[in-house]
Formats: sequence, C-alpha cells, structure tokens
Amino acid sequence: MTNLGMLATWFPEAASTHAAQLDGPFMQVMMAALVVLVVFVGLAIAFVMQFKREGQFPLGSVTLRTSLILRVLWVVAAIGMGLLAAGAGFGVFVDRTEAPFASGTIIVTAAQGDWDFAYPNGHVADTLHVATGTPVRLLMGSKDVMHSLSIPAFRLDEGVAPGRLAETWVEPTVPGTYDLKSNIYSGEGFAELRRAVVVHEPADYDAWLAAVSDIFAGRTLEEVGELLYNTQGCAVCHTTNGAALVGPSFLNLYGHEFETESGETIVANDAYIKESILTPNVSVIKGFQPVMTPFAGILDDKKIEAITAFLKTLSDRGGAPEGAVDETAVDTPVTTETQQEGN
Ligand code: HEC
Repeated sequence: MTNLGMLATWFPEAASTHAAQLDGPFMQVMMAALVVLVVFVGLAIAFVMQFKREGQFPLGSVTLRTSLILRVLWVVAAIGMGLLAAGAGFGVFVDRTEAPFASGTIIVTAAQGDWDFAYPNGHVADTLHVATGTPVRLLMGSKDVMHSLSIPAFRLDEGVAPGRLAETWVEPTVPGTYDLKSNIYSGEGFAELRRAVVVHEPADYDAWLAAVSDIFAGRTLEEVGELLYNTQGCAVCHTTNGAALVGPSFLNLYGHEFETESGETIVANDAYIKESILTPNVSVIKGFQPVMTPFAGILDDKKIEAITAFLKTLSDRGGAPEGAVDETAVDTPVTTETQQEGN
C-alpha cells in the first residue's frame, strides 16, 4: 500500500520511528472515513432530489431480497473498516510495549507542576533529552495524581498514574526541539507541565549529558563537597554541628587527633580522610561501630578532594593540621578564601 503518511503534511513533524509508522495508518483511516462521508452524504442528497422530482420514495421498487443484501453489505463494510483501523495501528501498539534489548532507561516522574527525567548515570533534569537512532525506554510514574506524557512529534501519549509504573519506548529520528506536555488536566501547576524534548545527534547527547552531570561546573570545591555530603548519604551518619550520630561529627574533624579502637592515635589529615572514605573499617574511631559503607568505586579522587575541602571549612584546624606532615594542606587556606570570595 502506498504510504498515505506522506499526505499528513499538517501534522506535527514526525520525529520518531513510531511516528513515521503511525501516520500512514492514521491517514488510511481518515481516507476511508472521508470516502464513507462523501458516498453517504452524496446518496442522501441524490435521494432527496429524486424524491422532490418524482414525489415518491427512491428505491421504492427495491425487493426485500436486494434490501437484505444491501444491509448485509453495509454491516460487513462497517466491520471491515473497524478491523482496518485496529489492524493498521496494532503492530505499533504491540511494538511499543517492549523496548529493544539494551535500550537505556530514563525514569520519568510526573508531579503537579513538575516533570523529572532521571538519566542512566543518575543525573536528573527537567527536560527530556534523547538521541537519534538510539532507542530509549521510558519508565513512568506519578507522585500525586493522574498525568499523561504526551509528545506529539513522537505520536506518544501515555497515561501516568500514581501507584503504578507505565512503560514505553521511543527511537527518535530527527534532531530538534519538540513539545512535551500532559494531556490530562491535573489542577495546580498544570501549565508548568509543558516542557521540551530535545533530540540530539548521539555525540551531542553524550556531550550534553557529560556537561550537565559535571557537579564541579559552576561550584567551588567546598560547595561540591557539601553537595556530596548531602547527596551521598554522609548526612545520615555524620552531623556538621558537633553532635555524634552513628559516626563522629564532621565539626572539627579535619586536622584533629583521634584514638582508634586498636589504640593508635591518628590525625585526620587528607590521606587519613581519603582512607576513611574508601575503606572506613581499616581504622575505626574509638567509641564507634565499624558500620560505615566503603565508598571505594563510588567516590573518585576529585570528589574525595571536594569532601576534604568541605571538612576543612568545618574545622578550626582547616589550615595546618598540627603534628601532621601534610604537604597538600599547606597552601589550602589561601585557595579556600579566594574561592569563597570569588563567589
Ligand atoms: C552508615 C553510617 C555512615 C555513613 C553513611 C557514612 N559514614 Fe563515615 N563513619 C561512620 C562511622 C560509624 C565512623 C566511625 C568508625 C570508622 O572510623 O569506621 C565513620 C568515620 C568516618 C570518618 C573518619 C572520622 C574520624 O573521626 O576520623 C570520615 C572522614 C568519614 N566517616 C567520612 C564519611 C563520608 C565523607 C561519608 C559520605 C560519603 C560517610 N562518612 C558516610 C558512619 C558512616
């Protein structure tokens, strides 16, 4: 069958594989409906005119047999049209239920006035970014009421209900920025659900994700440290106000001396802090349980450096730790101050 989708010129741009597959069937159904409309309205008008001219019901002489055939034909045609409409979209409907193997997953969280898109590397953005030729699974949930994820350029409109996960996938084809919205009125904040989908070339997508995921961009080392303290779970066990929780407080930790469970005295310098984060249970501080989770493989050197810089801001010995031979800390107060003034 010719691709009637070509006729769909007034549609939003078709920017995904499914969009391209759906426009054809949509136009077929439209055309079939148009033919029915023209034939029926045409016949009605013709009959009215014949009735006016001849003063009797048209087809008045039709036998019972012919009229039965006509009725059967009409019912069969109507059922046929229904099947055609269902069949045309069924392939895409089924295809959409399962993403291709090895698709990345973006977790979509809908809420009144807010969309969150969580990328495979953990970055969360308020716009959806995808790459051409790269199928991506969308796993969708709602925090409050019923919403829908509607992206006309992908011919996508999926209900997102609280308490259950909806799943679909897309493979974008044309780079550009398209509309994203909810089609279900959700009260407060409904207008803010209008966002953008940005379709990148794959290389641009990788560059975008790397750039926005860089927590160091636009932040001082100390600020990154504080961010990590809050986002990596440290705050659950360590306070910044001197109170001990599961672990010792971060207040006046840097540069201070501690006794370990094995009776040694250690100074919390850069090297010790790094060791404590990567392999916390090697030297356990007296009075505490060895329950801290090791962050080896989770926090790299740069992040540990940032946490250390944050710890220095919390300590009265943030500058030169007493009794510690620690070259890295010597000129730190200067950098700390200039960086803070600079912001
Ligand atoms: C599950 C609770 C828990 C979490 C989460 C946790 N810690 Fe700890 N941490 C402890 C405990 C308990 C100790 C003391 C025992 C020890 O030294 O292993 C400790 C010790 C430390 C020490 C050495 C303290 C000293 O006085 O010398 C540092 C530094 C430290 N943690 C940093 C961190 C950082 C940074 C994070 C987050 C990336 C973190 N911790 C997350 C429980 C935790």
